[in-house]
Amino acid sequence: MSKRLPWWKEGYDFSQLPKMKTGSPGPESRRLHARAAGIIKGLSSQVKLHPVCFKEGFGVVLTDVDGNRYIDFSSGIYVTTLGHCHPKISEAVARAARTMMNCHDFTTPVKVELLEKMVRILPEGINGIQLYDSGATAVEAALRAARAYTGKHEFLGFMMDFHGKTGHAVSLAKMNSANGAGRAQGFYMVPKPYPYRPLFKRTDGSIDTDAYIDYYEYFLANATTGQVAAFIAEPIQGWGGSVIPPDDFYSKLKKFCQKHDMLLIADEVLTGMGRTGKYLAMEHWDVTADISTLGKGFGNGFPVTAMVADERIKDAFEKISASTSYGGNPMACAAALASIEVIEEECLLENALRLEDYFIKRMEKMKREHKIIGDVRAKGCLLGIEMVRDQQSKEPFDEAGKMVYAKAFRKGLAWVPAGHILRLSPSIIMDKEVAAKGMDIVEEAIYETEKELGY
Ligand SMILES: Cc1ncc(COP(=O)(O)O)c(C=O)c1O
Repeated sequence: MSKRLPWWKEGYDFSQLPKMKTGSPGPESRRLHARAAGIIKGLSSQVKLHPVCFKEGFGVVLTDVDGNRYIDFSSGIYVTTLGHCHPKISEAVARAARTMMNCHDFTTPVKVELLEKMVRILPEGINGIQLYDSGATAVEAALRAARAYTGKHEFLGFMMDFHGKTGHAVSLAKMNSANGAGRAQGFYMVPKPYPYRPLFKRTDGSIDTDAYIDYYEYFLANATTGQVAAFIAEPIQGWGGSVIPPDDFYSKLKKFCQKHDMLLIADEVLTGMGRTGKYLAMEHWDVTADISTLGKGFGNGFPVTAMVADERIKDAFEKISASTSYGGNPMACAAALASIEVIEEECLLENALRLEDYFIKRMEKMKREHKIIGDVRAKGCLLGIEMVRDQQSKEPFDEAGKMVYAKAFRKGLAWVPAGHILRLSPSIIMDKEVAAKGMDIVEEAIYETEKELGY
Protein backbone atom coordinates (compact mmCIF):
# COMPACT_ATOMS: atom_id res chain seq x y z
CA MET A 1 0.00 0.00 0.00
CA SER A 2 1.48 3.37 -0.92
CA LYS A 3 2.08 5.78 1.94
CA ARG A 4 -0.09 8.90 1.90
CA LEU A 5 1.85 12.09 1.23
CA PRO A 6 1.83 14.79 3.92
CA TRP A 7 -0.57 17.64 3.09
CA TRP A 8 2.20 19.97 1.97
CA LYS A 9 3.58 17.49 -0.55
CA GLU A 10 0.26 16.94 -2.34
CA GLY A 11 0.33 18.63 -5.73
CA TYR A 12 4.09 19.22 -5.83
CA ASP A 13 6.77 17.13 -7.44
CA PHE A 14 9.65 17.82 -5.12
CA SER A 15 12.13 16.27 -7.53
CA GLN A 16 11.36 19.36 -9.68
CA LEU A 17 11.79 21.87 -6.87
CA PRO A 18 13.08 24.50 -6.57
CA LYS A 19 12.13 25.65 -10.04
CA MET A 20 13.48 28.92 -11.38
CA LYS A 21 11.74 30.16 -14.52
CA THR A 22 13.15 33.65 -14.92
CA GLY A 23 16.09 34.06 -12.60
CA SER A 24 15.49 35.65 -9.27
CA PRO A 25 14.43 38.33 -8.68
CA GLY A 26 12.56 38.19 -12.00
CA PRO A 27 11.20 41.13 -14.03
CA GLU A 28 7.74 41.22 -12.45
CA SER A 29 9.26 41.06 -8.94
CA ARG A 30 11.55 43.97 -9.78
CA ARG A 31 8.71 46.01 -11.24
CA LEU A 32 6.41 45.53 -8.25
CA HIS A 33 9.22 45.99 -5.75
CA ALA A 34 10.20 49.30 -7.36
CA ARG A 35 6.60 50.52 -6.91
CA ALA A 36 6.54 49.52 -3.25
CA ALA A 37 10.06 50.73 -2.48
CA GLY A 38 9.19 54.16 -3.87
CA ILE A 39 6.73 54.47 -1.01
CA ILE A 40 7.93 52.24 1.86
CA LYS A 41 11.22 53.31 3.38
CA GLY A 42 13.28 51.41 5.94
CA LEU A 43 12.84 47.95 4.41
CA SER A 44 14.82 45.09 5.95
CA SER A 45 18.17 44.01 4.57
CA GLN A 46 16.43 40.78 3.51
CA VAL A 47 14.26 42.65 1.04
CA LYS A 48 16.96 45.07 -0.05
CA LEU A 49 19.42 42.25 -0.73
CA HIS A 50 16.97 40.22 -2.77
CA PRO A 51 13.91 42.23 -3.83
CA VAL A 52 11.63 39.40 -4.78
CA CYS A 53 7.85 39.69 -4.67
CA PHE A 54 6.13 36.57 -3.36
CA LYS A 55 2.58 35.78 -4.25
CA GLU A 56 1.89 32.40 -2.68
CA GLY A 57 3.12 30.10 0.04
CA PHE A 58 2.07 26.50 0.56
CA GLY A 59 3.75 24.22 3.05
CA VAL A 60 7.48 24.67 2.52
CA VAL A 61 7.20 26.19 -0.96
CA LEU A 62 7.08 29.89 -1.84
CA THR A 63 6.11 31.09 -5.33
CA ASP A 64 6.99 34.52 -6.65
CA VAL A 65 5.13 36.69 -9.16
CA ASP A 66 7.37 35.44 -11.99
CA GLY A 67 6.40 31.84 -11.27
CA ASN A 68 9.71 30.89 -9.60
CA ARG A 69 9.31 28.29 -6.87
CA TYR A 70 11.56 28.34 -3.81
CA ILE A 71 12.12 26.02 -0.90
CA ASP A 72 11.47 28.07 2.21
CA PHE A 73 14.25 28.04 4.80
CA SER A 74 13.17 31.33 6.40
CA SER A 75 9.57 30.75 7.55
CA GLY A 76 8.89 34.46 7.03
CA ILE A 77 11.31 35.49 9.72
CA TYR A 78 11.15 32.41 12.02
CA VAL A 79 7.35 32.75 11.94
CA THR A 80 5.62 30.05 9.89
CA THR A 81 7.10 27.21 11.91
CA LEU A 82 4.35 24.87 10.64
CA GLY A 83 4.69 25.91 6.99
CA HIS A 84 2.46 28.21 4.97
CA CYS A 85 -1.30 27.88 4.92
CA HIS A 86 -1.74 24.69 6.90
CA PRO A 87 -5.36 23.78 6.00
CA LYS A 88 -6.37 23.43 9.64
CA ILE A 89 -4.90 26.79 10.67
CA SER A 90 -6.18 28.68 7.63
CA GLU A 91 -9.66 27.22 8.15
CA ALA A 92 -9.64 28.11 11.86
CA VAL A 93 -8.72 31.73 11.10
CA ALA A 94 -11.27 31.95 8.27
CA ARG A 95 -14.02 30.51 10.50
CA ALA A 96 -13.24 33.05 13.21
CA ALA A 97 -13.12 35.86 10.66
CA ARG A 98 -16.57 34.89 9.44
CA THR A 99 -17.93 34.74 13.00
CA MET A 100 -16.52 37.65 15.03
CA MET A 101 -13.32 39.56 14.56
CA ASN A 102 -13.00 41.59 17.74
CA CYS A 103 -14.70 42.11 21.08
CA HIS A 104 -11.86 43.80 22.99
CA ASP A 105 -10.68 41.62 25.88
CA PHE A 106 -14.02 40.01 26.64
CA THR A 107 -13.88 36.27 27.06
CA THR A 108 -14.71 34.18 24.01
CA PRO A 109 -15.06 30.40 23.78
CA VAL A 110 -11.98 30.07 21.58
CA LYS A 111 -9.93 32.14 24.04
CA VAL A 112 -10.87 29.83 26.90
CA GLU A 113 -9.94 26.81 24.82
CA LEU A 114 -6.59 28.33 23.93
CA LEU A 115 -5.72 29.38 27.50
CA GLU A 116 -6.58 25.95 28.90
CA LYS A 117 -4.65 24.20 26.14
CA MET A 118 -1.59 26.37 26.87
CA VAL A 119 -1.70 25.52 30.55
CA ARG A 120 -1.72 21.82 29.58
CA ILE A 121 1.22 21.93 27.17
CA LEU A 122 3.54 24.43 28.87
CA PRO A 123 5.86 23.29 31.70
CA GLU A 124 4.06 22.40 34.91
CA GLY A 125 3.06 25.34 37.05
CA ILE A 126 2.62 27.87 34.25
CA ASN A 127 -0.97 29.03 34.62
CA GLY A 128 -0.90 32.81 34.17
CA ILE A 129 -1.22 34.13 30.63
CA GLN A 130 -1.76 37.47 28.91
CA LEU A 131 -2.25 37.70 25.16
CA TYR A 132 -0.72 40.38 22.94
CA ASP A 133 -0.28 41.15 19.27
CA SER A 134 3.46 41.52 18.70
CA GLY A 135 6.61 40.14 20.22
CA ALA A 136 7.72 43.56 21.36
CA THR A 137 4.47 44.31 23.21
CA ALA A 138 4.70 40.96 25.00
CA VAL A 139 8.29 41.80 25.99
CA GLU A 140 7.20 45.24 27.23
CA ALA A 141 4.46 43.57 29.28
CA ALA A 142 7.01 41.16 30.78
CA LEU A 143 9.20 44.10 31.83
CA ARG A 144 6.23 45.87 33.42
CA ALA A 145 5.15 42.69 35.19
CA ALA A 146 8.68 42.21 36.55
CA ARG A 147 8.64 45.74 37.93
CA ALA A 148 5.21 45.21 39.44
CA TYR A 149 6.30 41.93 41.05
CA THR A 150 9.67 43.00 42.43
CA GLY A 151 9.10 46.70 43.06
CA LYS A 152 12.46 47.25 41.39
CA HIS A 153 13.04 49.09 38.16
CA GLU A 154 16.27 48.22 36.32
CA PHE A 155 16.98 45.45 33.80
CA LEU A 156 19.89 43.36 32.65
CA GLY A 157 20.00 41.91 29.16
CA PHE A 158 22.53 40.27 26.90
CA MET A 159 24.68 41.77 24.18
CA MET A 160 23.55 40.57 20.74
CA ASP A 161 20.14 39.44 21.98
CA PHE A 162 17.13 41.04 20.30
CA HIS A 163 13.73 41.78 21.83
CA GLY A 164 11.89 44.00 19.33
CA LYS A 165 11.64 47.63 18.38
CA THR A 166 9.61 49.37 21.08
CA GLY A 167 11.34 51.81 23.44
CA HIS A 168 12.38 49.43 26.19
CA ALA A 169 13.01 46.51 23.86
CA VAL A 170 15.51 48.53 21.82
CA SER A 171 17.15 49.54 25.10
CA LEU A 172 18.13 45.88 25.42
CA ALA A 173 19.69 45.61 21.97
CA LYS A 174 22.67 46.70 19.97
CA MET A 175 22.14 50.24 18.76
CA ASN A 176 23.72 52.39 16.17
CA SER A 177 23.48 56.13 15.89
CA ALA A 178 21.39 55.85 12.72
CA ASN A 179 18.42 53.99 14.17
CA GLY A 180 17.06 56.90 16.13
CA ALA A 181 16.89 55.17 19.49
CA GLY A 182 18.49 56.01 22.81
CA ARG A 183 18.95 53.53 25.63
CA ALA A 184 16.41 54.03 28.42
CA GLN A 185 17.78 54.67 31.87
CA GLY A 186 18.44 51.58 33.96
CA PHE A 187 18.78 49.17 31.03
CA TYR A 188 22.15 47.41 30.91
CA MET A 189 23.73 44.78 28.73
CA VAL A 190 26.34 42.20 29.60
CA PRO A 191 28.11 39.53 27.51
CA LYS A 192 26.56 36.13 27.05
CA PRO A 193 28.54 32.90 26.72
CA TYR A 194 29.25 32.26 23.06
CA PRO A 195 30.95 28.85 22.91
CA TYR A 196 32.67 29.49 19.56
CA ARG A 197 33.98 32.89 20.66
CA PRO A 198 34.37 32.74 24.44
CA LEU A 199 35.24 35.94 26.27
CA PHE A 200 36.03 34.14 29.52
CA LYS A 201 37.94 30.87 29.22
CA ARG A 202 39.37 28.22 31.47
CA THR A 203 43.08 27.43 31.19
CA ASP A 204 42.26 24.61 28.73
CA GLY A 205 40.57 27.16 26.42
CA SER A 206 37.00 25.97 27.08
CA ILE A 207 34.30 28.48 27.89
CA ASP A 208 34.03 29.36 31.59
CA THR A 209 30.39 29.96 32.49
CA ASP A 210 31.30 30.61 36.16
CA ALA A 211 33.47 33.51 35.07
CA TYR A 212 30.48 35.01 33.22
CA ILE A 213 28.37 34.75 36.37
CA ASP A 214 31.21 36.33 38.39
CA TYR A 215 31.24 39.17 35.93
CA TYR A 216 27.46 39.69 36.35
CA GLU A 217 28.00 39.84 40.14
CA TYR A 218 30.64 42.49 39.65
CA PHE A 219 28.51 44.42 37.18
CA LEU A 220 25.45 44.30 39.42
CA ALA A 221 27.45 45.65 42.37
CA ASN A 222 29.26 48.37 40.48
CA ALA A 223 27.25 49.46 37.46
CA THR A 224 23.60 49.27 38.56
CA THR A 225 21.68 50.79 41.46
CA GLY A 226 21.19 47.24 42.75
CA GLN A 227 17.48 47.60 42.01
CA VAL A 228 17.35 45.15 39.12
CA ALA A 229 13.87 43.76 38.48
CA ALA A 230 14.84 41.11 35.94
CA PHE A 231 17.42 39.57 33.70
CA ILE A 232 16.01 39.02 30.23
CA ALA A 233 17.48 36.46 27.84
CA GLU A 234 16.77 35.02 24.44
CA PRO A 235 17.39 31.33 25.20
CA ILE A 236 19.06 31.01 21.80
CA GLN A 237 19.87 34.10 19.81
CA GLY A 238 17.99 34.42 16.54
CA TRP A 239 19.18 37.70 15.07
CA GLY A 240 22.52 37.28 16.90
CA GLY A 241 23.24 34.14 14.88
CA SER A 242 21.67 31.04 16.46
CA VAL A 243 24.15 31.18 19.33
CA ILE A 244 23.47 28.40 21.85
CA PRO A 245 24.98 28.92 25.31
CA PRO A 246 26.67 25.98 27.09
CA ASP A 247 24.34 23.46 28.71
CA ASP A 248 25.16 24.53 32.27
CA PHE A 249 24.55 28.23 31.71
CA TYR A 250 20.85 28.80 32.32
CA SER A 251 20.68 26.86 35.57
CA LYS A 252 23.53 29.05 36.84
CA LEU A 253 21.83 32.19 35.58
CA LYS A 254 18.59 31.20 37.30
CA LYS A 255 20.48 30.75 40.61
CA PHE A 256 22.11 34.14 40.13
CA CYS A 257 18.67 35.73 39.61
CA GLN A 258 17.22 33.97 42.66
CA LYS A 259 20.15 35.07 44.82
CA HIS A 260 19.47 38.70 43.94
CA ASP A 261 15.67 38.56 44.02
CA MET A 262 15.37 39.40 40.37
CA LEU A 263 13.22 37.56 37.87
CA LEU A 264 14.49 35.61 34.90
CA ILE A 265 12.54 36.50 31.76
CA ALA A 266 12.98 34.13 28.84
CA ASP A 267 12.10 35.87 25.61
CA GLU A 268 10.89 32.84 23.67
CA VAL A 269 9.24 34.88 20.91
CA LEU A 270 11.56 33.26 18.40
CA THR A 271 12.55 30.03 20.13
CA GLY A 272 9.16 29.00 21.51
CA MET A 273 6.30 26.86 20.23
CA GLY A 274 8.26 24.12 18.53
CA ARG A 275 11.03 25.95 16.70
CA THR A 276 13.71 24.15 18.75
CA GLY A 277 11.78 20.89 19.25
CA LYS A 278 10.19 21.93 22.57
CA TYR A 279 7.33 24.26 23.42
CA LEU A 280 9.87 26.38 25.34
CA ALA A 281 13.56 26.25 24.44
CA MET A 282 14.42 26.57 28.14
CA GLU A 283 13.04 23.02 28.54
CA HIS A 284 16.24 21.79 26.86
CA TRP A 285 18.05 22.77 30.05
CA ASP A 286 15.30 21.93 32.56
CA VAL A 287 15.02 25.57 33.53
CA THR A 288 11.71 27.36 33.90
CA ALA A 289 11.99 31.12 33.66
CA ASP A 290 9.82 33.26 35.91
CA ILE A 291 8.19 34.88 32.89
CA SER A 292 8.33 33.73 29.26
CA THR A 293 7.17 35.49 26.13
CA LEU A 294 5.81 33.77 23.02
CA GLY A 295 5.27 35.00 19.48
CA LYS A 296 6.16 34.24 15.87
CA GLY A 297 5.33 30.51 15.51
CA PHE A 298 2.66 30.78 18.22
CA GLY A 299 0.03 31.73 15.61
CA ASN A 300 2.10 30.42 12.70
CA GLY A 301 1.91 33.78 10.94
CA PHE A 302 -1.16 35.28 12.51
CA PRO A 303 -0.08 38.11 14.86
CA VAL A 304 -0.67 36.62 18.28
CA THR A 305 1.80 36.67 21.17
CA ALA A 306 1.74 35.97 24.87
CA MET A 307 3.41 36.43 28.21
CA VAL A 308 3.20 33.44 30.56
CA ALA A 309 4.19 32.78 34.16
CA ASP A 310 3.37 30.68 37.19
CA GLU A 311 1.10 31.21 40.20
CA ARG A 312 3.59 33.44 42.10
CA ILE A 313 3.79 36.02 39.34
CA LYS A 314 0.09 35.97 38.41
CA ASP A 315 -0.79 38.71 40.90
CA ALA A 316 1.69 41.01 39.21
CA PHE A 317 -0.08 40.28 35.92
CA GLU A 318 -3.24 41.56 37.62
CA LYS A 319 -1.49 44.86 38.36
CA ILE A 320 -0.58 45.60 34.76
CA SER A 321 -3.44 46.20 32.40
CA ALA A 322 -3.60 43.39 29.84
CA SER A 323 -6.01 44.81 27.31
CA THR A 324 -4.92 45.97 23.88
CA SER A 325 -6.93 46.60 20.71
CA TYR A 326 -5.98 43.29 19.13
CA GLY A 327 -4.49 41.08 21.84
CA GLY A 328 -6.39 37.80 22.09
CA ASN A 329 -8.93 38.59 19.38
CA PRO A 330 -10.91 35.57 18.16
CA MET A 331 -8.93 35.15 14.93
CA ALA A 332 -5.66 35.27 16.88
CA CYS A 333 -6.85 32.73 19.44
CA ALA A 334 -8.13 30.44 16.70
CA ALA A 335 -4.77 30.60 14.90
CA ALA A 336 -2.79 29.83 18.07
CA LEU A 337 -5.10 27.04 19.17
CA ALA A 338 -5.06 25.38 15.75
CA SER A 339 -1.27 25.69 15.61
CA ILE A 340 -0.85 23.87 18.92
CA GLU A 341 -3.28 21.18 17.79
CA VAL A 342 -1.28 20.71 14.59
CA ILE A 343 1.95 20.34 16.57
CA GLU A 344 0.29 17.68 18.74
CA GLU A 345 -1.56 15.80 15.99
CA GLU A 346 1.41 15.66 13.63
CA CYS A 347 4.03 14.99 16.36
CA LEU A 348 6.03 17.95 15.15
CA LEU A 349 8.21 18.46 18.23
CA GLU A 350 9.60 15.00 17.62
CA ASN A 351 10.02 15.82 13.93
CA ALA A 352 11.95 19.01 14.76
CA LEU A 353 14.38 16.95 16.86
CA ARG A 354 14.76 14.36 14.07
CA LEU A 355 15.50 17.19 11.66
CA GLU A 356 18.05 18.66 14.08
CA ASP A 357 19.86 15.34 14.04
CA TYR A 358 19.99 15.36 10.24
CA PHE A 359 20.95 19.04 9.98
CA ILE A 360 23.74 18.92 12.54
CA LYS A 361 25.34 15.83 10.97
CA ARG A 362 25.13 17.38 7.53
CA MET A 363 26.53 20.72 8.69
CA GLU A 364 29.38 19.07 10.62
CA LYS A 365 30.35 17.26 7.42
CA MET A 366 30.18 20.54 5.49
CA LYS A 367 32.43 22.14 8.10
CA ARG A 368 35.04 19.43 7.64
CA GLU A 369 34.95 19.93 3.87
CA HIS A 370 34.81 23.73 3.58
CA LYS A 371 37.52 25.97 4.92
CA ILE A 372 35.30 29.03 5.22
CA ILE A 373 32.96 27.36 7.71
CA GLY A 374 34.08 28.06 11.27
CA ASP A 375 31.18 26.78 13.34
CA VAL A 376 27.80 25.11 12.88
CA ARG A 377 24.97 24.85 15.39
CA ALA A 378 21.40 23.65 15.63
CA LYS A 379 18.56 23.22 18.12
CA GLY A 380 15.55 21.78 16.39
CA CYS A 381 15.08 23.84 13.24
CA LEU A 382 17.01 26.89 14.45
CA LEU A 383 20.33 26.65 12.64
CA GLY A 384 23.47 28.70 12.15
CA ILE A 385 26.57 28.40 9.98
CA GLU A 386 29.37 30.80 10.81
CA MET A 387 31.64 31.89 7.94
CA VAL A 388 35.28 32.69 8.69
CA ARG A 389 38.31 33.73 6.64
CA ASP A 390 40.34 31.06 8.36
CA GLN A 391 39.34 28.32 10.80
CA GLN A 392 42.33 29.14 13.04
CA SER A 393 41.93 32.91 13.29
CA LYS A 394 38.08 32.67 13.24
CA GLU A 395 37.96 36.08 11.59
CA PRO A 396 34.33 36.75 10.59
CA PHE A 397 33.83 36.61 6.83
CA ASP A 398 30.93 38.90 5.97
CA GLU A 399 31.69 39.00 2.26
CA ALA A 400 31.45 35.21 2.02
CA GLY A 401 28.21 35.15 4.02
CA LYS A 402 26.60 37.69 1.72
CA MET A 403 27.77 35.84 -1.40
CA VAL A 404 26.44 32.50 -0.14
CA TYR A 405 23.14 34.11 0.78
CA ALA A 406 22.65 35.68 -2.67
CA LYS A 407 23.77 32.61 -4.61
CA ALA A 408 21.48 30.25 -2.71
CA PHE A 409 18.52 32.60 -3.09
CA ARG A 410 19.09 32.76 -6.85
CA LYS A 411 19.13 28.95 -6.89
CA GLY A 412 15.74 28.84 -5.18
CA LEU A 413 16.33 28.89 -1.43
CA ALA A 414 14.39 31.59 0.40
CA TRP A 415 16.20 32.27 3.64
CA VAL A 416 17.15 34.74 6.35
CA PRO A 417 19.83 37.26 5.33
CA ALA A 418 23.35 36.86 6.52
CA GLY A 419 26.32 38.82 7.60
CA HIS A 420 29.01 36.30 8.42
CA ILE A 421 26.47 33.97 10.06
CA LEU A 422 24.09 32.09 7.79
CA ARG A 423 20.79 31.75 9.65
CA LEU A 424 18.43 29.01 8.62
CA SER A 425 14.93 28.58 9.90
CA PRO A 426 13.16 25.80 8.00
CA SER A 427 9.70 24.70 8.97
CA ILE A 428 9.42 21.82 11.42
CA ILE A 429 6.95 20.04 9.11
CA MET A 430 9.74 19.28 6.66
CA ASP A 431 10.98 15.79 5.92
CA LYS A 432 14.54 14.70 5.29
CA GLU A 433 14.13 14.73 1.52
CA VAL A 434 13.29 18.44 1.41
CA ALA A 435 15.70 19.32 4.22
CA ALA A 436 18.47 17.67 2.18
CA LYS A 437 17.47 19.59 -0.93
CA GLY A 438 17.75 22.87 0.96
CA MET A 439 21.14 21.91 2.39
CA ASP A 440 22.35 20.84 -1.09
CA ILE A 441 21.66 24.38 -2.27
CA VAL A 442 23.46 25.90 0.73
CA GLU A 443 26.46 23.66 0.16
CA GLU A 444 26.58 24.38 -3.58
CA ALA A 445 26.52 28.10 -2.83
CA ILE A 446 29.35 27.70 -0.28
CA TYR A 447 31.38 25.67 -2.76
CA GLU A 448 30.98 28.29 -5.50
CA THR A 449 31.77 31.11 -3.08
CA GLU A 450 34.97 29.37 -1.96
CA LYS A 451 36.03 28.90 -5.57
CA GLU A 452 35.31 32.50 -6.45
CA LEU A 453 37.25 33.74 -3.44
CA GLY A 454 40.24 31.56 -4.29
CA TYR A 455 40.04 28.99 -1.47
C1 LIG B 1 13.48 37.12 20.51
C2 LIG B 1 12.58 38.18 19.95
N1 LIG B 1 11.84 38.91 20.79
C3 LIG B 1 11.00 39.86 20.34
C4 LIG B 1 10.88 40.13 18.99
C5 LIG B 1 9.96 41.18 18.52
O1 LIG B 1 8.87 40.61 17.90
P1 LIG B 1 7.91 41.48 16.96
O2 LIG B 1 8.68 41.74 15.70
O3 LIG B 1 6.73 40.60 16.75
O4 LIG B 1 7.59 42.72 17.71
C6 LIG B 1 11.63 39.39 18.08
C7 LIG B 1 11.52 39.66 16.64
O5 LIG B 1 12.31 39.29 15.83
C8 LIG B 1 12.51 38.38 18.57
O6 LIG B 1 13.25 37.65 17.74
